[in-house]
Amino acid sequence: MSDDAAIEVRDLVRVFESRKGFLFREVVRTEALKGVNLRVRAGSIFGLLGPNGAGKTTLVKILSTLLLPTSGTAQVLGHDVTRETDWLRPRIGLVLGGERGLYSRINARENLRYFADLYGIPVSERERRITEVLERVDLSSAADRRVEEYSRGMKQKLHIARGILHRPAILFLDEPTIGLDPKSARETRKLVRSLIQDGVTILLTTHYMFEAEELCPELAVLSRGRVVAHDTIPGLRSRVGGDRTIEAEAYGFEDREVDALRALPGVSKVASEEYGPRTRLTLRMRTGVTGVEHVKAALREHPELTIRERRTSVEDVYLDLVEEEAS
Ligand SMILES: Nc1ncnc2c1ncn2[C@@H]1O[C@H](COP(=O)(O)OP(=O)(O)OP(=O)(O)O)[C@@H](O)[C@H]1O
Ligand SMILES: [Mg+2]
Repeated sequence: MSDDAAIEVRDLVRVFESRKGFLFREVVRTEALKGVNLRVRAGSIFGLLGPNGAGKTTLVKILSTLLLPTSGTAQVLGHDVTRETDWLRPRIGLVLGGERGLYSRINARENLRYFADLYGIPVSERERRITEVLERVDLSSAADRRVEEYSRGMKQKLHIARGILHRPAILFLDEPTIGLDPKSARETRKLVRSLIQDGVTILLTTHYMFEAEELCPELAVLSRGRVVAHDTIPGLRSRVGGDRTIEAEAYGFEDREVDALRALPGVSKVASEEYGPRTRLTLRMRTGVTGVEHVKAALREHPELTIRERRTSVEDVYLDLVEEEAS
């Protein structure tokens, strides 16, 4: 494993087998990870993106020693996740989304006390550490309130406080902003950014490209158990080709019109989607080669045409990648 890698994953496969049907005789095999290779540099925030069921949580669970792979290897901080769990566990922080894992009848401070004991933090240091993390996640003023009174955003902050209490060298955040309102989500992202200044390596999963764009210099897109891209944001944008997107809508287009658009110089993709009675064509193109006027000319037989041009967003690139994989 190279010196500066915090995570190194090779040919990782995870198969789930569950039973269903009459007397549970039918065995259903799900290949959640189909040979994943990944390398994450130490001291960075790495984004793991992918649609529902892509395998993100499965990967995070394997890397945080909660789940065994079916085959392949994974090293975290240079140590094997299946064989060196005793060494790894105290150095790993894990925040899985959702409501589980907190005690709602007691307050935040008491929750953290419980976890501090679990992590083996010395009693002499415990209270100071707890005060410090509560401040860090901006929960000091609510520290003595029962967790059942907390909003979802406050609970999420407490989850993160719990995840960093033992000062892990690597932190896994599985969808840290899911279900949060925009303001709480923004606060959580700010908190994540501040953690990186302490030298913690973070692996963050998300469905939101803009979140990855804001936080992660590097990211991987997972789709159906495979890494379909591992790149930087500018790299991703350039790989799909076309930094402008034109959307043209009308009541149906002829194949020859679509072919004519595809033949225009600089056009890398033309996709067609139905929206009720209307059809929308989405074109990806390079700046300065073909313009809106050329597209209008090619579609001049549609008086009801609406057309708009915008910069290709990374979200577009992401959707293209996930679509390519699905088709
Ligand atoms: N314990 C399990 N038993 C059977 N199948 C499972 C199990 N856990 C996950 N899977 C399946 O493995 C695949 C990957 O699931 P995973 O939870 O890793 O996806 P994900 O990328 O985290 O999705 P989401 O964005 O919805 O959280 C899915 O098809 C899922 O149904
Ligand atoms: Mg998940």
